[in-house]
Amino acid sequence: MSANLQLDSQGRLVHLLTTEGLPRSLILHILDTAAQFVSVNEREVKKVPLLRGKSIFNVFFENSTRTRTTFEIAAKRLSADVINLNIGSSSTAKGETLLDTVWNLQAMDADMFVVRHAEAGAPHLIARHVKPGVHVVNAGDGRHAHPTQGLLDMYTIRHYKQDFSRLVVAIVGDVLHSRVARSQIHALTTLGVPEVRVVGPKTLLPKDVERLGVRVFHDVAAGLRDCDVVITLRLQNERMSGPLLPSAGEFNKTYGLTPEKLALAKPDAIVMHPGPINRGVEIDSGVADGTHSVIMPQVTFGIAVRMAVMAILAGNDR
Ligand code: CP
Repeated sequence: MSANLQLDSQGRLVHLLTTEGLPRSLILHILDTAAQFVSVNEREVKKVPLLRGKSIFNVFFENSTRTRTTFEIAAKRLSADVINLNIGSSSTAKGETLLDTVWNLQAMDADMFVVRHAEAGAPHLIARHVKPGVHVVNAGDGRHAHPTQGLLDMYTIRHYKQDFSRLVVAIVGDVLHSRVARSQIHALTTLGVPEVRVVGPKTLLPKDVERLGVRVFHDVAAGLRDCDVVITLRLQNERMSGPLLPSAGEFNKTYGLTPEKLALAKPDAIVMHPGPINRGVEIDSGVADGTHSVIMPQVTFGIAVRMAVMAILAGNDR
């Protein structure tokens, strides 16, 4: 999959498909722009006219609570018109192809597509077939990428820890099936985090994951020791092709984040999770709702980060 599809010849963002290959300066520009929108979102009138007259289509072929809703809120706060295509009642059920659906929506003057799809590469396919000036944002494709989640996670880490260059970050759980983990790893390494760890059983870590610049831990105590940031991931059963674990209960005993395991991390460690959480599986309620958890701020920051991405994309048309 070509990461370069998302940048024009001058290095400006035309689509957001992956964090892989995104220059550090561009990631920081997105985070800095998001910081301005955090201020907008704290005002009584949470609206700016940047995308007035633009039409943004949310096209979600997979379920979503956080991503779809925060993209809608973000687009509305930028004054865009938002259209949520209901895939369940769309003509996809009558055999219309993905590209035919997109071309028909494009004929309704779409300016931007926000796309979630179970097939890795679907947003890239769309990006290759839309008219110049129409932007595509990947809202999660298969196990490949979820770039705005990765970016909002970087925003959250910077908010609480300020300096990426001194951090130890552990990503714990089902990394194998996680598009979020891949997007986080690319962003964390680009931003200069010196130690990114992946922690989990062999069956839930990608082969050769070290090539992404991470350290591998199968022992959870060693993996969590002295971490600044602990990111937990749910078991993504919908993408598993067979049984990779004895049971969810066994996984919880070994890798589930409990207050006792979290005590191995630094005393001021933050706990993150992209959601949805499965309480009592990858994370105990005492941790999810505890003082180290920044899971709800992640969701809130997601609005500003998605505003930033859409504003930057639309701004590059001018
Ligand atoms: N984190 C995330 O993508 O959540 P949703 O599936 O609810 O959008």
